[in-house]
Amino acid sequence: MFGKRSTQGGAAEVAVRPATQMPAPAAVPAAVVAARPVEAAAAPGADLRGLPGFAQRLQPIAPEKPAEPKPVRARSDTYYETKSQVFAALIDTIDLSQIAGLSTEAAREEIRDIVNDIIAIKNFAMTIAEQEDLLADICNDVLGYGPLEPLLARDDIADIMVNGARQTFIEVNGKVEETEIRFRDNQQLLNICQRIVSQVGRRVDETSPICDARLPDGSRVNVIAPPLAIDGTVLTIRKFKKDKLTLPQLVNFGAISPEGAEILQIIGRVRCNVVISGGTGSGKTTLLNCLTRYIDEDERIITCEDSAELQLQQPHVVRLETRPPNIEGEGEITMRDLVKNCLRMRPERIIVGEVRGPEVFDLLQAMNTGHDGSMGTIHSNSPRECLNRMEAMIAMGGFTLPPRTVREIISGSVDVIIQAARLRDGSRRITHITEVLGMEGDVITTQDLFLYDIMGEAANGKIIGRHRSTGIGRPAFWDRARYYNEEQRLASALDAALDKTVA
Ligand SMILES: Nc1ncnc2c1ncn2[C@@H]1O[C@H](COP(=O)(O)OP(=O)(O)O)[C@@H](O)[C@H]1O
Ligand SMILES: [Mg+2]
Repeated sequence: MFGKRSTQGGAAEVAVRPATQMPAPAAVPAAVVAARPVEAAAAPGADLRGLPGFAQRLQPIAPEKPAEPKPVRARSDTYYETKSQVFAALIDTIDLSQIAGLSTEAAREEIRDIVNDIIAIKNFAMTIAEQEDLLADICNDVLGYGPLEPLLARDDIADIMVNGARQTFIEVNGKVEETEIRFRDNQQLLNICQRIVSQVGRRVDETSPICDARLPDGSRVNVIAPPLAIDGTVLTIRKFKKDKLTLPQLVNFGAISPEGAEILQIIGRVRCNVVISGGTGSGKTTLLNCLTRYIDEDERIITCEDSAELQLQQPHVVRLETRPPNIEGEGEITMRDLVKNCLRMRPERIIVGEVRGPEVFDLLQAMNTGHDGSMGTIHSNSPRECLNRMEAMIAMGGFTLPPRTVREIISGSVDVIIQAARLRDGSRRITHITEVLGMEGDVITTQDLFLYDIMGEAANGKIIGRHRSTGIGRPAFWDRARYYNEEQRLASALDAALDKTVA
């Protein structure tokens, strides 16, 4: 029984029966004919093409751009059994590698014809809706990303996490939930992973079981396969969002208060050197993208990313992307290579999507040598930890500088650290706007301008908190703000944030 049908129950239910017991196509139960005349007429084996509305109804199965995301339905084991029988018969009938050479449309036509034949020959009784589902599934397997397709089509999903063939989680609105998605077996999952990574010229199998890639839409993909992943291939996809969040939207979500947002805008505009710090998925890249909106239009900006996520609005932007080694392990271009090269491209600002290693040194150099307003994100859980991470990353590059010198470089380059966090209720907040002031002895000194205090938890588990100013009326970047004629706006934003705190 198809799970989908069994939820509707009653007359429209059609069982998949062994061939011996199968009624002839014409003998579809009368109730079905009554309930769904068109579909019943198009029972297994019937020529579908002559039916009115046939073409339109089959349109939405296109796996790469469904008209609207189909909900993910729970399906019974029988469904998967039928599907695997049809699939096996399909593979016996056609050469899948030749299908891959056809255009998607032609390939789908081909598969549709054969699948319809198989269903007729094997006498699987099913309505046309069920047949469409099966066909879409099989097309997805052969031509697209298989069971992942419906998830990839949904815009509300931030992350997809596949833990082997039987378990898939998604993150929606900051919350992780399990889905009904299942893969036929580990081999199918690995095949789909292989299809994804081969598009960027990479390979994943036992000999190279770890692989980063991305989908044509820009989504970031990581695959780790057995034997490293013990319970089957693990696939993680960070979905690319076309409509990036804006600062006003972050204010609406409560990620930052209106006054805090005003301060961030000024920081972006007046060319402070900024590091955005936060954990994975805390909203660093989103925030970096927001800040870049307030950069003046006449500045030449160069962005360096592992895979292009930022969407700058300015007219004068050069986008650079690193390159992983090819299958032979050659041709890698690292972030460090890019940032170094940037310096020869007359940038006014350099923006590094994600600083993970020794390139931090080159970014700090850039910040220090007239490219103020440069920005980057770093994975760390507090502004203080962020400073330590930068120090550690410089050490990773093999620079043999005394720790004090390293800290002087950091404190002399970075003006502001903005901390993003994903709280335990799934909400994302900006928790610190912190200035890096200088050195006292061997220690880098900082001052918090703006903080988020957690005050408690509501009954529904939502965290209650507030953004507040720390009472600093004149930040260290005051002179910069004045140079850009923003000191009035800065003063009133800080004032307003303080008033709210007192009130
Ligand atoms: N303040 C926010 N409120 C709700 N969702 C957010 C917020 N900031 C970011 N997101 C979403 O969270 C996901 C991860 O954000 P991203 O900026 O890529 O994180 P990071 O770069 O820290 O890994 C994205 O889907 C993004 O749209
Ligand atoms: Mg990021």
